Amino acid sequence: MAQPRPASAQWWRSAVIYQVYVRSFADGDGDGTGDLAGVRARLPYLAELGVDALWFTPWYVSPLKDGGYDVADYRAIDPAFGTLAEAEKLIAEARELGIRTIVDIVPNHVSDQHSWFRAARAAGPGSPERELFHFRPGRGPDGALPPNDWPSQFVGSTEPVWTRLPDGEWYLHLFTPEQPDLNWAHPVVRQEHEDILRFWFERGVAGVRIDSAALLAKDPDLTDLADGPEPHPFVDRDELHDVYRSWRAVADDYDGVFVGEVWLPDAERFARYLRPDELHTAFNFSFLSCPWDAERLRESIDTTLAEHAPVGAPATWVLCNHDVTRTATRYGRADTGFDFAAKAFGTPTDLALGARRARAAALLSLALPGAVYLYQGEELGLPEADIPLDRIQDPMHARSGGTDPGRDGCRVPLPWTADAPHAGFGPGEEPWLPQPAGWAAYAADGQAADPDSMLALYRRAIALRPRFGQDPLTWLPAPDGVLAFTRAPGTVCVVNLADRPADLPVPGELLLASGPLDPRGRLPSDTAVWLRAPGL
Ligand code: GLC
Repeated sequence: MAQPRPASAQWWRSAVIYQVYVRSFADGDGDGTGDLAGVRARLPYLAELGVDALWFTPWYVSPLKDGGYDVADYRAIDPAFGTLAEAEKLIAEARELGIRTIVDIVPNHVSDQHSWFRAARAAGPGSPERELFHFRPGRGPDGALPPNDWPSQFVGSTEPVWTRLPDGEWYLHLFTPEQPDLNWAHPVVRQEHEDILRFWFERGVAGVRIDSAALLAKDPDLTDLADGPEPHPFVDRDELHDVYRSWRAVADDYDGVFVGEVWLPDAERFARYLRPDELHTAFNFSFLSCPWDAERLRESIDTTLAEHAPVGAPATWVLCNHDVTRTATRYGRADTGFDFAAKAFGTPTDLALGARRARAAALLSLALPGAVYLYQGEELGLPEADIPLDRIQDPMHARSGGTDPGRDGCRVPLPWTADAPHAGFGPGEEPWLPQPAGWAAYAADGQAADPDSMLALYRRAIALRPRFGQDPLTWLPAPDGVLAFTRAPGTVCVVNLADRPADLPVPGELLLASGPLDPRGRLPSDTAVWLRAPGL
């Protein structure tokens, strides 16, 4: 097993962070749902993989109407997953192995089962309890029309973002009706979240992921979107920066770090969240959405590095997460980018091609300067699964009127043991989402024994990654369709995205390859290598 790594104050600048979707990671008690016992039992696997930190998607008490992003109590673990005492043990045990913990805070909304919303519902119109949310009378005769024209934040959803209560008032929910939005202009909302941050930092967590981080602040008049695009009534409002400055002061008391879920197309607006007194890092969705194309990827990398440099924040490199199509599938399609609006049933996929590219992309992202996020199962090369219609649970599916397959296809319970029931996910009942035929072929135990597996590639790459050091990236001359760069003197990454083999642009000793070179020593299409090239 890997040895614990020494602590480093700036660990997050170059960390490999593994996202755990608890419900689907490993089922310790046999009820078909992943849990903390399952994670604790697999900590040695994660240590051997070599990751620096675990990001847990919400593990709090939740009716699970949106996979846990509908939180009923931010200070308690959902009983299906375990207890707070167990979470504390898990945080400590992981730390013993040199692995830090990041929790996921959902500040934009709560579950409709949260005590605040239950109280607001009961207290009625005009009550102080309702001021913690966005309650409004409707428009039109008898207030029968929603208070404004805002669209759902589930792309493709045709459903309204307002729900009317029997007493006639409407409440705002950018996501499902079970996720009422909080009123961030209210001091009690701000105070509560700072207390929640302290609660988790006190329990030893090293960082916090901030869900929907650019959506919290709302225009006080909740004006129609049609009234004018700027400033947007609920995306990326300037008031938010004040919120994150006070959060940063809390985090600094504990040496804690933030990673924001900030989906913004404008690089300059995005970087504002990363100023030195705000968030430490944010997810790089431009890289995640980028097609498998040398020029586009190089441009995405350059833009990312350029937008982070002025604020001194490290970049992050993300290929997938619990919301998007799995990498091996996305790269095997005609459209290799990611766009929520383009998701459809039955998209033709060449999985062998996608897997080859996913291997090369792993070497690309792990060689770049900054932190890398790895979503559970990515290290196994899992593809997106087709979920039978009657088993789909993700609200995105229903809210799109059934046209969007939803996000369950990337949330299927992991295969651990090839010849165990449910591919070793758990000892008892059927997993909460069905595993597709052939899932056992991806099992971790089989891959651990195979030096050519995706798992073996990730293990070796993560172990070798420190060779790239902390230096910035320098592009090397390379043929069209080939990306080549160096960072630490003498260490080079080359990726061939062209449709024919390419000569290696520099001579060097092969450290690691995503696939074999051809008989003439050339780099085949959709293949990446790391080289030791002394003299560079
Ligand atoms: C974030 C989460 C997603 C969730 C949404 C609403 O985008 O990643 O899973 O549905 O926020 O909380």
